[in-house]
Amino acid sequence: MTTTESKDLGAEELRARAAEALTRARARSDALTDAVDDEDLIRQHSKLMSPLVWDLAHIGSQEELWLVRDVGGREPLRPDIDDIYDAFQHARADRPALPLLSPAEARSYVREVREKAFDVLERVPLGGRRLTEQAFAFGMVTQHEQQHDETMLATHQLRQGDPVLHAPEPPPARPGTLPAEVLVPGGAFTMGTSAEPWALDNERPAHEIAVDAYWMDTTPVTSGAYAGFLDSGGYDDERWWSPAGWAYRTGSGITAPRFWKREQDGWWRTRFGVYERITAAEPVVHVSFFEAEAYAAWAGRRLPTEAEWEKAARFDPASGRSRRFPWGDEEPGAEHANLGQRHLRPAPAGAYPAGASPTGVHQLIGDVWEWTSTDLHGYPGFAAFPYQEYSEVFFGPEYKVLRGGSFGTDAAAIRGTFRNWDYPIRRQIFAGFRTARDAGPGEG
Ligand code: AVJ
Ligand code: FE
Repeated sequence: MTTTESKDLGAEELRARAAEALTRARARSDALTDAVDDEDLIRQHSKLMSPLVWDLAHIGSQEELWLVRDVGGREPLRPDIDDIYDAFQHARADRPALPLLSPAEARSYVREVREKAFDVLERVPLGGRRLTEQAFAFGMVTQHEQQHDETMLATHQLRQGDPVLHAPEPPPARPGTLPAEVLVPGGAFTMGTSAEPWALDNERPAHEIAVDAYWMDTTPVTSGAYAGFLDSGGYDDERWWSPAGWAYRTGSGITAPRFWKREQDGWWRTRFGVYERITAAEPVVHVSFFEAEAYAAWAGRRLPTEAEWEKAARFDPASGRSRRFPWGDEEPGAEHANLGQRHLRPAPAGAYPAGASPTGVHQLIGDVWEWTSTDLHGYPGFAAFPYQEYSEVFFGPEYKVLRGGSFGTDAAAIRGTFRNWDYPIRRQIFAGFRTARDAGPGEG
């Protein structure tokens, strides 16, 4: 191999990569569902979430649909359950009442589907139709499973009871002080991609976009900094909140990030069943878009736009090129970013110097999803593929874009172009933020 471009990979290499990614996703799905008993798999831990056993069988159902039936052209295994596991037929709140597969049935269903999918992967020609080009459908199904693994991790965070998930601590912050913010130069850059083989439809196509120079926080906003906003009465001061944000703040009665509690000696939180003091250096997580926006106003700043986030993450001033990740084109390694549920918490600000961008922005990938100020829309030339329900049906002003992935996101499901979205009131996801400000005249 003389190049990192996946378009030069041979079919055998693509098959091996797809198999490896699917196997890694399944190891995570198994760990998240084997960690609790059947009763906990069937129970709805929050109205916001599906029962874990629904996620598991839904993972299998999507894999059956795309890999076994569509790509493989094989007979359906369980046409009778298509409707139950169609996310658009039943809202999350209604899923516990469905005639779901039992945990044992769901486990054997996903196992059978996987055997068939692997058989398809070995035999189907890669190419000839867009779904099989670069093994795209296998990459899409892998990412789908990993997305649900992150959703299941959020369900674990909402679950009451003793801790059942354990992981080593993330790396500490490296010695030395980082500047609070860095200047990103103005000018056009390439946003989105037409080359990344497993990029999903909403990341396409690549297009040029002009961005004025701006200052970007070096790291995500920490819990310590966020506590300063709380302790200065920020939640009771309408000045910092947008009208919609203030309506949400007062209507919901929220007084702190989700899972936080004020004790006499400061702020504490519950994380995966462990009650602990907040860690000042750790990126704040479980805040809504509206809280992020209010913090930024209090700090005399603003949230970055989606284009600003992507320019900080991908633009290399030396070459003028947009790269796959802040550190370059290589796949994320353990030294670059806190991904893949290896550590079940964000790492302290400054823990990943090897993952910094050329302009010196740290921890854009991993740790916490970052709210941007941009509504979810298709890029110029967007075309839904292979189904409108992945993202097109969500385009519009009611969803805000999040970028960068969290400690709960797998490397296969994140890159500099990846776009996530959610309602601006959502807090159960692993979302934090960083802030930005316009550069002055003559800067950048
Ligand atoms: C891209 C994370 C918003 O979880 O709703 C899972 C991913 N799409 N199954 C979601 C997804 C279909 C999606 N997000
Ligand atoms: Fe899904």
